Amino acid sequence: MSEVIEVSSEWLALREPEDARARSRELARAAADRLGPGPIAVHDLGSGTGSMMRWLAPLLPGPQTWVLHDWNPGLVERAADGGVPVDRDGRPVRVAIRSEELSHLEPGDLEGASLVTASALLDVLTLDEIRAIARACVAVGCPALLSLSVTGRVHLGPADARDDLFAAAFNAHQQRRVDGRALAGPSAVADARRLFVEAGWNAREETTFWRLGRHDPDLLAQWFDGWLGAAVEQRADFEVPAAAYRALRASHLRQGVLTATVVHTDLLVWP
Ligand SMILES: C[S@@+](CC[C@H](N)C(=O)[O-])C[C@H]1O[C@@H](n2cnc3c(N)ncnc32)[C@H](O)[C@@H]1O
Repeated sequence: MSEVIEVSSEWLALREPEDARARSRELARAAADRLGPGPIAVHDLGSGTGSMMRWLAPLLPGPQTWVLHDWNPGLVERAADGGVPVDRDGRPVRVAIRSEELSHLEPGDLEGASLVTASALLDVLTLDEIRAIARACVAVGCPALLSLSVTGRVHLGPADARDDLFAAAFNAHQQRRVDGRALAGPSAVADARRLFVEAGWNAREETTFWRLGRHDPDLLAQWFDGWLGAAVEQRADFEVPAAAYRALRASHLRQGVLTATVVHTDLLVWP
């Protein structure tokens, strides 16, 4: 098995409210319009602890079954902690979990799916894994709502001349090789769109934004640490300039003036 890139449940919990605010409700409505009458089955890929289910279930008709796929059992097994969400008619959803690698995803794994979803996933996959997902979705023939893929565009405030330098290093880090796997990073959503369009499918995109600021200093601080840390991991020669930049941004954070807009793309595809 390939090395698992660890994501902590604490990080997923911290980002969940901003993810929920940022995801495109218009694309969720468009996905809902393509569903027949219930019961429906939604397969969420790279589900983590189930954030997408908690956001989307109340926007869709029921009865619903959610099948959560993630290669990290320690995350997916926590999906029902705190109770299961309800569908838009108030009925609790049924939840099933599968611990598996998406590179091995086969059409049979999505059998009976009415909708496939993923959130904050595509950019941490390889092109082969994105291809496996597209192939399986096309074989099953149900729509797929693929939310919150990073585009690599980030706007920090107050603006600093060094922002673009660190952003470029961060984006290169997003496309690094991990245990022989070349991550798709910011090109993931274009890759996914192309694969579905080549199969004759329709695609609709919305640009979606994380808007980080003093209303959520913990999320902003952790996001910034991760962003700059990844840039320095990619470019060891940036360690010295990064120290001064980090100190400046820490003072902006303490003063409550630091902001970051992180640009994502949400993609809906359907046959
Ligand atoms: C950034 S997290 C997003 C989790 C969740 N969708 C959310 O929005 O909170 C990416 C998730 O994808 C899972 N993942 C990454 N690569 C995977 C792969 N190749 N196969 C299966 N799961 C994978 C990780 O374990 C993690 O839970």
